[in-house]
Amino acid sequence: MTEERKKVTLTTLFSKARKGEPISWLTCYDYPTAFLQEQAGIDMILVGDSLGMTMLGYDSTLPVTMSDMIRHTQAVRRGAPNVFLIGDMPYMTYQASTEDAVRNAGRFMAEASCDAIKLEGGREMADRIKAIVAAGIPAFGHLGLTPQSVAALGGFKLQGKGADQAKRILEDAKILEEAGACAILLELVPDRLCKLITERAENSLIMSLGSGPDAHGQLLIYHDMFGLYPKFTPKMAKVFGNAGEVILNGLKAYHQEVKEKNFPTSENYFGMKDEEFEELTRSL
Ligand code: KIV
Repeated sequence: MTEERKKVTLTTLFSKARKGEPISWLTCYDYPTAFLQEQAGIDMILVGDSLGMTMLGYDSTLPVTMSDMIRHTQAVRRGAPNVFLIGDMPYMTYQASTEDAVRNAGRFMAEASCDAIKLEGGREMADRIKAIVAAGIPAFGHLGLTPQSVAALGGFKLQGKGADQAKRILEDAKILEEAGACAILLELVPDRLCKLITERAENSLIMSLGSGPDAHGQLLIYHDMFGLYPKFTPKMAKVFGNAGEVILNGLKAYHQEVKEKNFPTSENYFGMKDEEFEELTRSL
């Protein structure tokens, strides 16, 4: 049974934050999963460029293109018409110039009916955020572990462990907020740093991915939650169910049943009336 939900807007989200009600946020890349997330009452969906790894099997997010992102985001929007939908700007679609940034952000809004976009980076991206917001597009920042810069960061590891780096992240959050970011994702920073940034935020929602409980809300990668990414499960992910195992067992059973001629049975196909079949064979 499907249930119609009220559309989630920035007003809804800021009102939740004001009341201290945590916001739920998940990644999603396809229509059936989007449908389930909408039904489950999830507040926000990120069509992350992580789809390069989770859906397309690349080793990093860097090969993902705008066309990949638009195709998947459109499918997600069809499955989740009322969730607050954020399109993730892929590698080199905003780094080279503010013009690129505005044009590609605009594609997410016009072609995939997004509610906002997200891009990675601190103070060096403030002019991109400013220009996108000036074009009337809500923009999310992303600090801490930023996968598009994983080579420069020295791998997928905790960011802001030391006081100097933590201070820089805290300053970056303020700069992005002043540039107009309506939300900032903190990925893999220490919990106390996340708490400090959240307490100091005035006009931005602060969201946590592996950065502790004290943000305005939480993000998880859907594939990590359900055992659907075969290569690894990071510490920050909680596994809520092992769908990967359920599917694998189902696939093995299907393979076996076909091999042993136990599938299909008469419940799984249609017959034909005798007279029609006789007429058919006579005519051959
Ligand atoms: O692409 C993505 O899913 C992301 C998350 C890792 C935050 O940017």
